Amino acid sequence: MFEPVERVPGDAILGLIEAFKNDTNPQKVDLGVGVYRDDKGNTPVMRAVKEAETRLLKNETTKTYIGSHGAPAYGNAILPLVLGAESPVLEAGRASATQSPGGTGALRLAADFIAKQLPGRDIWVSDPTWPNHHGIFTAAGIELHKYPYVDADNRLDFDGMLAAIRQIPEGDVVVLHACCHNPTGFDLSAEQWQAVLEVVRERKLLPLIDFAYQGFGQGLDEDAHGVRLFAEQLDEVIITSSCSKNFGIYNERTGCLIAVAKNAEQMENVRSQFAIVARENYSNPPAHGSSIVGEILHDPELAAAWREELTEMRDRVNGLRQAFVKALEPYGLADKYACVGEQRGMFSYTGLTPDQVDRLREEFGIYMVRSGRANVAGFSQENLPYIAKAIAVVNGVSVDD
Ligand code: LMR
Repeated sequence: MFEPVERVPGDAILGLIEAFKNDTNPQKVDLGVGVYRDDKGNTPVMRAVKEAETRLLKNETTKTYIGSHGAPAYGNAILPLVLGAESPVLEAGRASATQSPGGTGALRLAADFIAKQLPGRDIWVSDPTWPNHHGIFTAAGIELHKYPYVDADNRLDFDGMLAAIRQIPEGDVVVLHACCHNPTGFDLSAEQWQAVLEVVRERKLLPLIDFAYQGFGQGLDEDAHGVRLFAEQLDEVIITSSCSKNFGIYNERTGCLIAVAKNAEQMENVRSQFAIVARENYSNPPAHGSSIVGEILHDPELAAAWREELTEMRDRVNGLRQAFVKALEPYGLADKYACVGEQRGMFSYTGLTPDQVDRLREEFGIYMVRSGRANVAGFSQENLPYIAKAIAVVNGVSVDD
């Protein structure tokens, strides 16, 4: 029976974790998978998370199922975090939260919901986008198309993006990245969000906003600008939110599928369908991560400590962007890679070609996605001179040995 089954290469991003682990080069650098790293290259447990876990361990009384929508204390903490504490959308009872196993789980729930409840609607993603968007939506049986996002000079191609979205057939779904665009790091300005909103409204599209990096761009509220604008101005929006990065709880698989509907009644209808797709996929989400987040966000002191630590992480990444460009100055490459200083979030679309990425890995033990996407959090003051020199070499710049 299994004879015809072919072996396939593993996921390109997750495969880098293993390849990096097996590399014996003492100077190796991991710029691959999107996890935060401190200046020692570690991904520590956040202090507020540790404190919340200590409390949970002490106070936990049961491990019974938490229901297909997850823990209410999680949902009612995530909604104001994403939509704003004073959101008119929340006031009107137009939004619901369904806890999911990570942001990826939320995307899969959204995909199954669209395939079942909105059949015949295609989905449009940016070119490039997080490669798993392709897998998730096509696995759900939805036809996928692309709209342009970067131009040949590795800059945001906003005109191209808008013109393409204008051509999307009425009623289709358009996927937007709320902030920290993965993989490029190019985000939309407030004016650009407004312009996209007009087109989405005019074309009667359903926006699905992937919000995996809230707090890693400019701030928790700043990064939510597009999400809140769309939720407040449009009747219907789907949002997939993740706590993996901003709480650093990657392996606890904690995310949320948010529906914004025209009114409370339609919201309840959609919400009831979300419970069905959750039940069919995995029944109930895991509890630990959502308990951590609920514990933190419902305790003002702990929430303040978490915000402070997240700010430190964000500032570190943004500082490294500038330090990277500076490290390339001696090689005359600062202008070529100036985009890294301008992009936002964890990732940079560096403009390095697949061949250059291969050379960086093979000759220097520097790992990044072949598209040229680098995880900026993998830079450190210590490894930047080494990375800069390696980039100079693969660009054909002569360097002193
Ligand atoms: C990434 O893009 O590196 C992260 O979102 C992790 C993943 O699951 O791919």
